[in-house]
Amino acid sequence: MSDQVAPARPEGIAGRSGLWQRLRSVDGPWEVTALGVVSVLCWTTAALAPAGAWRLVPAAGGAFFFVGVACFLYSSLSGKQAVWDDLIDQLAMQGSEHVLDVGCGRGAVLTTAARRLTDGRAVGIDLWRQRDQAGNSALAAWDAARAAHVAERTEFLTADMTELPFGDATFDVVLTSMAVHNVHPLSLRRRAIAETVRVLKPGGMLIMLDIKVRGRVRQLTSLGMCSVTSRSAGPRMWWLGPLVRTTVITARKSPATGHLANAMMSQPVTATEY
Ligand SMILES: C[S@@+](CC[C@H](N)C(=O)[O-])C[C@H]1O[C@@H](n2cnc3c(N)ncnc32)[C@H](O)[C@@H]1O
Repeated sequence: MSDQVAPARPEGIAGRSGLWQRLRSVDGPWEVTALGVVSVLCWTTAALAPAGAWRLVPAAGGAFFFVGVACFLYSSLSGKQAVWDDLIDQLAMQGSEHVLDVGCGRGAVLTTAARRLTDGRAVGIDLWRQRDQAGNSALAAWDAARAAHVAERTEFLTADMTELPFGDATFDVVLTSMAVHNVHPLSLRRRAIAETVRVLKPGGMLIMLDIKVRGRVRQLTSLGMCSVTSRSAGPRMWWLGPLVRTTVITARKSPATGHLANAMMSQPVTATEY
């Protein structure tokens, strides 16, 4: 099917419409459930407390966590897609690029990129952890690609981001969305970032959206990446109001970068970098 008849963007974050379907694809399902439970507990405590000023404390706590749930759901189910639409537009791809999405989950970001391709290819890798995204599976990712009419130029592989199954300098663009922070310990997270650099072609572009990004700009710079920028993704990707914000990091691989990432990959992984 041609792109002209495809919808302007995938229907919802998982390529399906309907609130219930969308809720079943939420990021961090345990975290958002915990926030909801705490909110209800606070309000129950407020209702049972003796009348007076003491009621206000749990009531305010309940409101705080309720707003957290609202932010979380909005960011996961709508804001994230809107931010990626803008970022991928700004990339102004030619259409022939090879694009990798590291930790692609249910494939929403990858299919957004794949829609800009003509004879290029979009590859998503993941371990499909349900803990990190509800309903996470390669099948769900394929469904999203089919719904966006990009399945023929898309591929999904089961792989660990700390050991990408690709040769050096394979991709023109590497994307990663809310995935690297899930890797523990820090030494493995740093290894995952080095892997994104290794598989990029010289001149290729890395776009990383994530929380807990301390030290990443420094690492990318030390790996020889150039034009490294870091900025907030704004309120569209607040997870607990402004307390947990998403950062957008972009970087370009300079022609001389390859050997730096390769050198880092050959070092043993230690757990001493906490
Ligand atoms: C919060 S989800 C985000 C999914 C997708 N990038 C998005 O923005 O919709 C994080 C993803 O990272 C994946 N992940 C976690 N650790 C991984 C690892 N070591 N290698 C590959 N994927 C991993 C999870 O399975 C999950 O799909």
